[in-house]
Amino acid sequence: MANKIIVTGGTGYIGSHTVIELQKSGFEPLIIDDLSNSSPKIVDLITRITGVKPVFEKVDLCDLPMLQKFFKEHHGIAGVIHFAAFKAVGESVTQPLQYYHNNLVGLLNLLVCMASYDTANIVFSSSCTVYGQPDQLPVTERAPVKQAMSPYGNTKQISEEIIHDTAQKSSLKGISLRYFNPIGAHESGLIGELPIGVPDNLVPYITQTAIGKRDKLTVFGNDYNTPDGTCIRDYIHVCDLAKAHVVAVKRLVDGENEKPHEIFNLGTGTGYSVLEAIRTFEKTTGVKLNWAFSDRRPGDVEQVWADTTLANIKLGWKAEKGLKEMMASAWEWEKNMAAGILQS
Ligand code: WQD
Repeated sequence: MANKIIVTGGTGYIGSHTVIELQKSGFEPLIIDDLSNSSPKIVDLITRITGVKPVFEKVDLCDLPMLQKFFKEHHGIAGVIHFAAFKAVGESVTQPLQYYHNNLVGLLNLLVCMASYDTANIVFSSSCTVYGQPDQLPVTERAPVKQAMSPYGNTKQISEEIIHDTAQKSSLKGISLRYFNPIGAHESGLIGELPIGVPDNLVPYITQTAIGKRDKLTVFGNDYNTPDGTCIRDYIHVCDLAKAHVVAVKRLVDGENEKPHEIFNLGTGTGYSVLEAIRTFEKTTGVKLNWAFSDRRPGDVEQVWADTTLANIKLGWKAEKGLKEMMASAWEWEKNMAAGILQS
């Protein structure tokens, strides 16, 4: 089986966990990453976990000659899993041009190189953000894509369309995976989410508050039309998410896709409120969190969780880990970072 898979953004949060699952499944992942939001130390930690050091090169997807050189030097690439993108929703609102340029030029350069070097299979890291606030819940892949609420979300929508249209008229085959809320860390405690600066997302903010790096967690809004007034999300363990990427790229490599471009929701199918997430963290870890309500965060969707039937049936994939395990693993990783694992 042709087994070389390029993983763009492979030293990032979801990318690094996917590299590990690829190695465990007999694939040879080749990491390219510009290190704009991750550390090269992650390659060493992946090696410590699997015993196999993955190929890694610092490559900016927006530098076409550099990317072409990489493809030229690595023959027989069976597929690409494309994570590399800027992904901070709030930052995209203040820096739209940087987001459109980085996320879209990066994808376009990648697709041009794939065509030039006969690599037909791409798995794309998309997001439930494309649904906005769905009219019906749980949300299925047939739900309409809504006006993006941020340039970040718009780059995901546009990227899906670029892949879709290209796949209709070329040998390209694509699977877009719409993530819900990835959280947690690898069971080894050696890799996890590595937010640079103040975390935007809930769970790294929870664990940094618990470890004492942040004084207090702010809960954005308690007047939503939900049972406890706080927003509801479908949190999914990053390792379950990583396994889905291996299944998806194998589906393409084995020619089992039913359409040139397929789309799958990757969630658990269960929604939890912010307060439920906080309480689960406290009960699971025994750590009492200091938090307080504040105003709503602009752009937040009130409630969203996935209908995962399509991925369950077509991919034969289902999330296995529950919220307690997600919180426990996130906490272990935070404690290991505080103990200097990234400096060792
Ligand atoms: C979850 C809930 C916040 C922080 C974003 C992207 C999505 C994906 C995941 C990339 C919301 C509340 C948060 C805090 C809080 N990213 N919250 N206090 O916004 O659902 O999704 O990250 O693919 O595309 O949109 O995730 O973790 O930021 O927020 O109360 O300090 O937690 O209001 O209700 P979100 P999140």
